[in-house]
Amino acid sequence: MLSGAQPTADSYHLGNYIGAFRQWVALQDEFEAFYFIPDLHAITVEYDPALLRERTYVAAAQMLAAGVDPSRSALFVQSHVPEHAQLAWVLGGVTGFGEASRMTQFKDKSARGGQDSASVGLFTYPILMAADILVYQADKVPVGEDQRQHVELTRNLAQRFNHRFGETFTVPEAHIVRATAKIYDLQDPTSKMSGSSASHAGVIDLSDTAKQAAKKVRSAVTDSGAEIRFDPEQKPGISNLLTIFSVLTDRSVDDLVAEFADQQYGHLKVALGEVVGDFVQQFGSRTRELLEDRGELDRILAEGAARAREVAVPTLAAVYEASGFVAPRPAGA
Ligand code: TRP
Repeated sequence: MLSGAQPTADSYHLGNYIGAFRQWVALQDEFEAFYFIPDLHAITVEYDPALLRERTYVAAAQMLAAGVDPSRSALFVQSHVPEHAQLAWVLGGVTGFGEASRMTQFKDKSARGGQDSASVGLFTYPILMAADILVYQADKVPVGEDQRQHVELTRNLAQRFNHRFGETFTVPEAHIVRATAKIYDLQDPTSKMSGSSASHAGVIDLSDTAKQAAKKVRSAVTDSGAEIRFDPEQKPGISNLLTIFSVLTDRSVDDLVAEFADQQYGHLKVALGEVVGDFVQQFGSRTRELLEDRGELDRILAEGAARAREVAVPTLAAVYEASGFVAPRPAGA
């Protein structure tokens, strides 16, 4: 199993934690897991190199703070494993231009900045993502709904390559996270909590102080009416708060609804504000501890990359062989 989350902000947010990292942590019991920080993907839009380096460390520390266990799972940085980029080049040869042009994320992102400012890297991003997945022969790829089309492309490329050049790749499946693990922007509870949203008022960053986080929760947009019940259609705001409450306290939504049944929205927000505040406080101190010892982080990431290469190197060798490349041999041997 394999997954990654882009280091494109100064911190991951609560949506990443609830929607992704918590599943990653649970899945490491069941699967041989590879988790990585896609720094090669991060350079497909304008960025600052010094910031990328710092964000990559923060990303690693936050994944560890969330419970990714480097003794069970390989945690690594994409650019430390050159086979990702090498495989992406080969896959480019079996990807149709029209096929790549149909990727909705590219269309959205390039429309936002204007066609001319979109890079070729942004266009080929899904091919690199396919390489990330196929180089580990992954069976399952936990991703959000927004990445489903990229996993679909990955499946098509794997099948096409296998068909043309012989069985080489495992055809992976997307493991879409459950609806209850999806959380929404506190200011706009109909859109997903996202690092790229215009305002950060509805996004709880994992690096927020307890005070900042509690304030964002207390200012959350709620629905008309006054009744506290779980109803994502009619009451997206309250339902979102109940989901977050349930996940962070390990209590069922029913149980919470029963407790708050006779109370007002404000009571729920104050109580959840404290829960979220405590959570980010603990998460933040664990992250800072990890960030203070860069040597130890470097060691964990090097070990993760070495484990990753144990799988990636033989896959790439099989791909090169199937592709008809002459194997390099030492002169005179
Ligand atoms: N594109 C993913 C995202 O934006 C990140 C990613 C890159 C990824 N490579 C991956 C996720 C491979 C799963 C598997 O969230």
